Amino acid sequence: MNVAVIGTNYLGAAHAAGMAEFGHSVIGVDVVPERVAVLNSGRSTVFEEGLEPLLAKHTASGRLRFTTDYSEIADWADVHFICVGTPQSDSGAADLSQVWAVVEHLGPLLTKPTVIAGKSTVPVGTAPHLQSRFDELAPGVGVEVMWNPEFLREAFAVKDTLTPDRIVLGARSAAALERMRQVYSVPIAAGVPVVACDIATAELIKVAANAFLATKISFINAMAQMCQAAGGDVTLLADAIGHDKRIGREFLNAGLGFGGGCLPKDIRALATRARELDVAVLADFIGDVEAINEGQRREVAELAVGQFDGDIGGRKVAVLGAAFKPGTDDTRSSPALSVADRLAAAGADVWIFDPQAQVAGPNFTQAASIEECLRDAELVLHLTEWPLFRQLDPADYADLVRNKVLIDGRLKLDRERWQRAGWKVIQLGRAATL
Ligand code: UDX
Repeated sequence: MNVAVIGTNYLGAAHAAGMAEFGHSVIGVDVVPERVAVLNSGRSTVFEEGLEPLLAKHTASGRLRFTTDYSEIADWADVHFICVGTPQSDSGAADLSQVWAVVEHLGPLLTKPTVIAGKSTVPVGTAPHLQSRFDELAPGVGVEVMWNPEFLREAFAVKDTLTPDRIVLGARSAAALERMRQVYSVPIAAGVPVVACDIATAELIKVAANAFLATKISFINAMAQMCQAAGGDVTLLADAIGHDKRIGREFLNAGLGFGGGCLPKDIRALATRARELDVAVLADFIGDVEAINEGQRREVAELAVGQFDGDIGGRKVAVLGAAFKPGTDDTRSSPALSVADRLAAAGADVWIFDPQAQVAGPNFTQAASIEECLRDAELVLHLTEWPLFRQLDPADYADLVRNKVLIDGRLKLDRERWQRAGWKVIQLGRAATL
């Protein structure tokens, strides 16, 4: 089949490469010429395990190419996927301007029946508005909007694209559904379950999944607070409740909480939409999930300042990690940077080391090595749990720092090992260390 993928950042680039891997002819469209040029040369514009080899393979095979020109895809594609960003607007609602720009560009060019499959995360009720506008821009052509939400995680984008947990298809007609089943015939044949539903349910499934994941994280972080107060250990607690299959161990890692380009903005957009629809109970619930998340960042920053009796001004602080999670160079809504920002605002001399993420700005100094970051530091904070940091030998750094004090904001370092090397280790939710 001929497949167009509009928007080629994280989601779109992985989706376009995945579609080519499934055997389709794929054209990716993006408004950023530089991104198109890089992708056409078989390289990735983001750090994402396995993406570049797939892009290289299929740009070389001729099955995949990228363009800025909508006229190349309009009547060529059997399915047009919308993969553009829906960032957070000032009000908290999703900013749909990029989605609308796609409609306005593509609509007037369409003269043959086609399926428009939305993958971007949108507020429930968006698809019918897009449908109406397509009907105005391409009257009588037979353009059908359906929703096919994407669940891929950064750092696992290729794996999640090629072997998703499920495929959600929200469509009005059996014909659109059937066309989408053909698009996904490879993973469907491999046993990936399909959930076929109405469009509103499809739009909601995505935000419900993200809200539930955020809830799990905030729940365990609230339990971390409880452990801290009562003298318990939240990591053992998570292991124990995680053995219950109804609960599961995943997304029960306590620490700094969730960040990234999706979870924070998607749940905020859901809360905004819930208020618009007078579903206050959901909006309030999400508000609590967010408040717990924000509280973790604040608490870790306060712990750091507390090490200096409330005045961290001028103290060199070493921060390990800047990405919002390991395996990515993405720092959007990064919990690590949120803590670093607070410390910088309190006057600390903040140095950051991250194996992939670049941190620009006047507030921090980006260290070129772990040694540079830790040299003469008066406090070390572990804020993004890259495997590299777990492999560090704390003895190697004992003489490099000024104070052997470590705040492990992700509860992932081997506490006893660091303690044996003479470090004071602070892990929120593992009260015995304080
Ligand atoms: C998320 C969803 O998982 C994905 O399905 C959706 O399509 C996009 O949003 P992603 O943003 O890549 O994916 O990150 P994810 O792996 O979900 O992690 C989100 C945040 O939660 C990270 O900051 C991570 O550090 C944090 N997290 C995750 C925890 O604090 N504890 C956990 O147990 C798990």
